[in-house]
Amino acid sequence: MTDIKELLLSRIRDVADYPEPGVMFKDITPLLADPAAFTALTDALAEIAANTGATKVVGLEARGFILGAPVAVRAGLGFIPVRKAGKLPGATLSQAYDLEYGSAEIEVHAEDLAAGDRVLVIDDVLATGGTAEASIQLIRRAGADVAGLAVLMELGFLSGRARLEPSLAGAPLEAL
Ligand code: PRP
Repeated sequence: MTDIKELLLSRIRDVADYPEPGVMFKDITPLLADPAAFTALTDALAEIAANTGATKVVGLEARGFILGAPVAVRAGLGFIPVRKAGKLPGATLSQAYDLEYGSAEIEVHAEDLAAGDRVLVIDDVLATGGTAEASIQLIRRAGADVAGLAVLMELGFLSGRARLEPSLAGAPLEAL
């Protein structure tokens, strides 16, 4: 394992039975509290932004905001928040997606993305891929291109990568 992977893994805390019994929650707050680890993560994600030719960074609420914003600053790119429905004050594009029970909706300010933009999507965890898939659909509906998806962790047993393959359409999925 590379040094950075070891460092990042050592700063992610497993919390059993949170937020409900049977779930092992991946808590990234120890990583955020460690400046060396948070800087290493930000640098690695900023390198992905450069390698993919991204012109904008989208962060997915809420932990994608914490990880994505410093990457945008480091890479010299604009940061665009994709929020849960009802939180953005301007004209929005919305995308609904299915959850295990029920559905959810995410939104982006329509004016923040346009044709010619190449967007790197950043989040903490790729689980089922539902959130990332909806964000990719939003970006494309805005007329922009998806440069890639970068996450700190991928929960491989939930098969998010396979689900995203058609919507990523060849754009890279990087899981640190
Ligand atoms: C978590 C995580 C991802 C998403 C991954 O966010 O931060 O955004 O779920 O799951 P998926 O791949 O199955 O869609 P959550 O919905 O818990 O929101 P939060 O970050 O606001 O707590």
